[in-house]
Amino acid sequence: MARVAIVTGGTRGIGEAISLALKEQGVTVAANYAGNAEKAAAFTAATGIKAYAWDVGDFDACAAGVAQVEAELGPVDILVNNAGITRDGTILKMTREMWEDVIRINLGGCFNMAHATFPGMRNRKWGRIVNIGSINGQAGQYGQVNYAAAKSGIHGFTKALAQEGARAGVTVNAIAPGYIDTDMVAAVPPEVLEKIVAKIPVGRLGQASEIARGVTFLCSEEGGFVTGSTLSINGGQHMY
Ligand code: CAA
Repeated sequence: MARVAIVTGGTRGIGEAISLALKEQGVTVAANYAGNAEKAAAFTAATGIKAYAWDVGDFDACAAGVAQVEAELGPVDILVNNAGITRDGTILKMTREMWEDVIRINLGGCFNMAHATFPGMRNRKWGRIVNIGSINGQAGQYGQVNYAAAKSGIHGFTKALAQEGARAGVTVNAIAPGYIDTDMVAAVPPEVLEKIVAKIPVGRLGQASEIARGVTFLCSEEGGFVTGSTLSINGGQHMY
């Protein structure tokens, strides 16, 4: 039987590339999305991958969404926590709402989705969880105390859950992308983005497919000895 995966934020940007790459590996993919129903319908029409709408920041909605996917496609073996938003601004301009939305969705979403899927993986003695962190969670970024805190939290969450899953065949890893050519990065003011790209040693933005390749490796059978790790895919922008 084919493995079943949920990719959150899986119909656009990096998530879309991950959904496609997993499908190419023979995985049955459920692509979650939050709001853009038009794009999700186009994605399903183009790829044949089913799309499911729920808010990853809502604990109960995640439980219900996972139950629906499991009823339609089978038990979830692979979870890719990719959904995320930005609400950039210096702390002088950051409202409590901007802070709470990013923490609730980017970090809370990882908890909500893992809470709904980890017990089944553990019982079946096989699972793969990949959390999409960020270079900005590793290095910080001017104008992103909310996003950097959430992404940094994801890296800690990954290492803690990896310890809980190790004996049960459930690996938990993170990928820390750098600046990737997506709508999210396109929203950065052009003059700011230009300066950021100038500091990327390979001299360009990354492609979503270059993140997806890392995800398929971590989700593979051969990836079973890799757990609690963070794979940085950032064109050399941050090395440590
Ligand atoms: N270091 C030092 N100073 C900086 C700076 C930096 N990196 N960036 C901006 N500044 C300065 C500006 O020069 C300006 O200074 P002056 O006031 O002296 O002119 C000041 O900070 C900007 O002040 P603003 O009032 O304009 O700040 P703001 O609250 O409106 O915020 C900003 C501006 C939102 C931070 C904007 O600069 C921005 O969007 N920056 C990019 C943030 C970013 O990289 N986001 C990543 C999004 S993609 C993503 O997150 C994906 C991923 O995982 C990589």
